[in-house]
Amino acid sequence: MSKLGKATARACANIALVKYWGKRDPVLNLPAAGSLSMTLDALVTETSVEFDDDLNADVLILDGATADAKATARTARWLDLVRERASVTAKARVVSGNNFPTASGLASSASAYAALALAATRAASYAADPAELSELARLGSGSAARSIFGGFVEMAPGVSSDGKDAVARPIDDGGDWDVRMVVAVVGGGVKKSVSSRDAMTHCAETSPLYQAWVGSVPGDIEAAREAIARRDLGALGAIAEGSALAMHAAALASRPTIRYFRPETLAVMARVESLREAGAPAFYTMDAGPHVKILTAGDAADDVARAVRDVPGVSDVLHSRIGGPAVLLDDGSAGAARP
Ligand code: PMV
Repeated sequence: MSKLGKATARACANIALVKYWGKRDPVLNLPAAGSLSMTLDALVTETSVEFDDDLNADVLILDGATADAKATARTARWLDLVRERASVTAKARVVSGNNFPTASGLASSASAYAALALAATRAASYAADPAELSELARLGSGSAARSIFGGFVEMAPGVSSDGKDAVARPIDDGGDWDVRMVVAVVGGGVKKSVSSRDAMTHCAETSPLYQAWVGSVPGDIEAAREAIARRDLGALGAIAEGSALAMHAAALASRPTIRYFRPETLAVMARVESLREAGAPAFYTMDAGPHVKILTAGDAADDVARAVRDVPGVSDVLHSRIGGPAVLLDDGSAGAARP
């Protein structure tokens, strides 16, 4: 029998309210500072992994098509980590699908590596606790460490050189708080030009604002934690906007610049500011792409979505509630399980 094990998992994307931008160790993918995010239930990746002795190489199918050599090689390197820990030698067939545009700054790598970590460890019959799943996900993509968990999640930068303490933990499930994330998709979800990995390295090496950015993170995390505990959306939104702007300021000041904003991005930001001046709780944040994510309240979300849909250049508007943790959908035996 050459089929060793198969498992399928689902994970939600997350959006950082206090951003991760920069690494203290690029090889182990250790962040230079912490970060804090909200998990989104509307942006989901489902991934199945099957180890098979008959395969000569790992196979990656993304959204129904065979992935390119670069993406396949990156996944294969990551699978080696699981093979090593689980003492498995077989190659794997990975089939993954997103319900949102891939690699466009919509956090696809976060949900992708979180779902992959859960599915691959289970398929290899390797028992990893949530902290180890978070560590494995981080080794694929820094933001993925947070997508193992639901609600509001804090990522620790850690201090150890092996990175075992650079993992995320859930800080609040947000269960009784009706906050939403409205996502204004700009430019039709096209692939981003500079990967966050390359951009972070370039920013750390050339931006005169990089150290100041890193220094701003711990205070923002502390303040965000307190705002969440108080259910203070205004305070949390102000921190989220400030963190995103500081991250993008550092990136913009890189030489040559890293600019993810497009004219439409700025137009949506201006629309959010005018909504706020009119009394709506609405706060923007942007990642390594042109899209704008707007933190808002449940009773304001429809108005916010309508207002940003009207901005020329906005091709789609998604609307999300707080999402839950990564879950196993099928481990080859009966029943679903939580990590
Ligand atoms: O997970 P990565 O390596 O793609 O980095 C994500 C970086 C940002 O999305 C810009 C910020 C964040 O904390 O998610």
